[in-house]
Amino acid sequence: MLTLEKIKNNPQVLEFIKQSEISLGALDYTEHGLRHANLVARRAKKMAQEIGLSKREQELAALAGFCHDMGNFLGRSQHHYWGAILFHQLFSVSGEKADFSPREMTWVMQAISNHDKYDMKLTNPISSIVILADKSDVHRSRVRSQAQSKIREDLHDRVNYATTKSQIKVNKAQKKINLTLKIDTKFCSIMEYFEIFTERMSYCRKAAEHLGYHFSLIINNFKLL
Ligand SMILES: [Fe+2]
Ligand SMILES: [Fe+2]
Repeated sequence: MLTLEKIKNNPQVLEFIKQSEISLGALDYTEHGLRHANLVARRAKKMAQEIGLSKREQELAALAGFCHDMGNFLGRSQHHYWGAILFHQLFSVSGEKADFSPREMTWVMQAISNHDKYDMKLTNPISSIVILADKSDVHRSRVRSQAQSKIREDLHDRVNYATTKSQIKVNKAQKKINLTLKIDTKFCSIMEYFEIFTERMSYCRKAAEHLGYHFSLIINNFKLL
């Protein structure tokens, strides 16, 4: 049975992530390497557990989270599609030796593909969890250049750099998923955060709603959604 641990040690997956990180570095994008992959995998697994998905579904959410950005080395704009197809190419074995049932394979592929496809109507819980785990990773540590002049020039860098805390929590009893951010307004205003993250936050809301939860966004102790 393929688990997150085995996928984390797969040399091909690791190379895809490494080359994706190099490619996005060349485009001046924020960090998308092993730090991001591990964090999304960890958050996805924890949320799947807290929501009450099965052990197997928790593992699927974790490994989809780990692999979701590995297609970036083939091209940024379609990286979600590349990632899904690459996952299938690497891990599709049919018959008795199959690591995934056809449905599990389809769900993981769809979760990878859905994470950057804001127009989707979500239809599987793994997708919704990966979206929430991925979009909640806004943080200072994702900014490559710590040079203040460079940070001030780039809005994405500024917003990420300004975010000193980012935490997503499931409250099963209240059916709420809360994203709590701490933004240092010396580096960016709350409006600037929304300039680039409005679409992502409404996708998080859709993902939470698909899971039967209400999504809340709390920035600097203000509840904004
Ligand atoms: Fe992505
Ligand atoms: Fe991502």
